[in-house]
Amino acid sequence: MNFKEELQKKTFLAEQVIRKYLPEESGFSKNMAEAVNYSMLAGGKRLRPVFMYETYRMFGGREELVEPFMAAMEMVHTHSLIHDDLPALDNDEYRRGRKTTHVVYGESAAILAGDALLNYAYETAFAAFDMTCACGASMQTRITQALKILGRKTGIYGMLGGQGVDVENDGKPLTREMLDYIYENKTSALIECAMMIGAVLAGASKEETEKIEQAAGRIGIAFQIQDDILDVTGSTKELGKAVGSDEKNHKTTYVTLEGMEKAGEKVRILTDEAIGLLQELPGEKEFLTELLISLCTRRK
Ligand code: IPE
Ligand code: IPE
Ligand code: MG
Ligand code: MG
Ligand code: MG
Repeated sequence: MNFKEELQKKTFLAEQVIRKYLPEESGFSKNMAEAVNYSMLAGGKRLRPVFMYETYRMFGGREELVEPFMAAMEMVHTHSLIHDDLPALDNDEYRRGRKTTHVVYGESAAILAGDALLNYAYETAFAAFDMTCACGASMQTRITQALKILGRKTGIYGMLGGQGVDVENDGKPLTREMLDYIYENKTSALIECAMMIGAVLAGASKEETEKIEQAAGRIGIAFQIQDDILDVTGSTKELGKAVGSDEKNHKTTYVTLEGMEKAGEKVRILTDEAIGLLQELPGEKEFLTELLISLCTRRK
């Protein structure tokens, strides 16, 4: 397997799926649709839809059923980024190689575009019920389960809960316990969401889905620690977003709490653990494993 080529192919596939589901730029809400599409089409690694698709395939999923969920996943994530960059949160001006949504469209439009995108994610995911491959009671049950995961992992007991605690503690010292809570929620929750939905839609068992959740939890924390490392060692050119954002906001991060060396080590340990958990599951996971290894040394 040529990993780079495979990653390109899979990212392209995710990109095509996402584009299929974007809102139309017409009528009185044209400006809002434009603001939504501005951030959705700015690029981004599309990692969460790729994780979802790979997990779906790993458990034998071969239908289009996963597609509305892939698009919905990227919508929830992009909503979180639009809001994360707002002046009231991290106050950042670059994202995905472009000026942030609030800089281009204004703050009120960016708040509403974020809200609209979050809601549109659910509208998009609900459409799975109407797909021809979704007929039959067992498929309908899988979709319902997937929607429950999407709701839970996005909300107060997931990403938004983590974002809340993260933002309200800007400038304050944090214990490791609180920092772990923040990372498990603001970042791991959506990666757990992506992989669990892939598993559930493909018909994975409860035990298998739990193992996926454990692996994804570790992948998410490793991903956030690497994000913190890059906030210090990266460049806007490479990352496409502001660097030094954490320092500007006086944030306690894994890097400030434990130091750069330990942070890098933790990324590798968590990645090894995640790979180990995946190995305990059936199915093809060569690409997924390579992807996790590549994320340890990512520069963007
Ligand atoms: C950024 O996520 C937010 C974090 C959880 C660190 P990504 O690094 O996946 O952002 P995009 O989607 O590639 O822009
Ligand atoms: C954000 O963490 C996580 C979410 C957006 C949910 P960061 O604030 O570190 O993400 P970046 O660095 O702005 O992408
Ligand atoms: Mg933030
Ligand atoms: Mg931020
Ligand atoms: Mg960051």
